[in-house]
Amino acid sequence: MSKIIGLTGGIASGKSTVSKMFKEREIPVIDTDQIAKTLLNEDKDIYKEILKTFGEDVLTPNQEINRNKLAQIIFKDKEKRKKLNAIIHPKVKEITLHETTHLKDLKQPLIVLDVPLLFEADFDSVCDVTIVVYARKKDQISRLLSREGIDEAYAKQKINAQMPLSKKKELADYIIDNSKSILETRKSFERVLKEIEKTNK
Ligand SMILES: Nc1ncnc2c1ncn2[C@@H]1O[C@H](COP(=O)(O)OP(=O)(O)OP(=O)(O)O)[C@@H](O)[C@H]1O
Ligand SMILES: [Mg+2]
Repeated sequence: MSKIIGLTGGIASGKSTVSKMFKEREIPVIDTDQIAKTLLNEDKDIYKEILKTFGEDVLTPNQEINRNKLAQIIFKDKEKRKKLNAIIHPKVKEITLHETTHLKDLKQPLIVLDVPLLFEADFDSVCDVTIVVYARKKDQISRLLSREGIDEAYAKQKINAQMPLSKKKELADYIIDNSKSILETRKSFERVLKEIEKTNK
């Protein structure tokens, strides 16, 4: 029996950093952000639906969907965010569940789903355990600023668009603290992994 681990967190809180630690242990990770990214330009229905909803302004000169432009629109408008999620989420879920089934068939003991909106999009219902990667808001902001070169107001807008990380911490079974050095995060990861491996939940 495979155990499905739902991995989530806030924007730039360290989900990908922790995903990498799982992969280094040869534990497979399904990256739903990557699935969504691919779908945007490769799924004809989604592409058409996005153009219909958001207009041609979200296109690059070579007719591809510009994720940054789309992000700027949806992070300041809750209704538009809902619309985009409604277009993309069902297909992301379908692909994720399909890939999960495949890994289950391969008898993988642990399977990680990296899902930024794990609780918001009800992905936690397909998981046996959930982990939140935690960082303080000021860490999220400074990491976003240095990674994306965006301004602080936009960074805050992005963070505030999601369920508060404090709420996610309450909902999760385990917390990996990524508010200090990567070395500390690795220790937290090791502890949580050991715990998950030994419990039969
Ligand atoms: N403990 C840490 N100390 C310093 N920098 C860190 C730490 N953890 C992650 N970072 C950096 O912060 C940024 C965000 O980390 P990461 O990409 O793992 O977060 P994420 O939650 O996957 O982000 P996203 O929401 O964009 O998917 C990256 O540039 C990463 O290198
Ligand atoms: Mg990530």
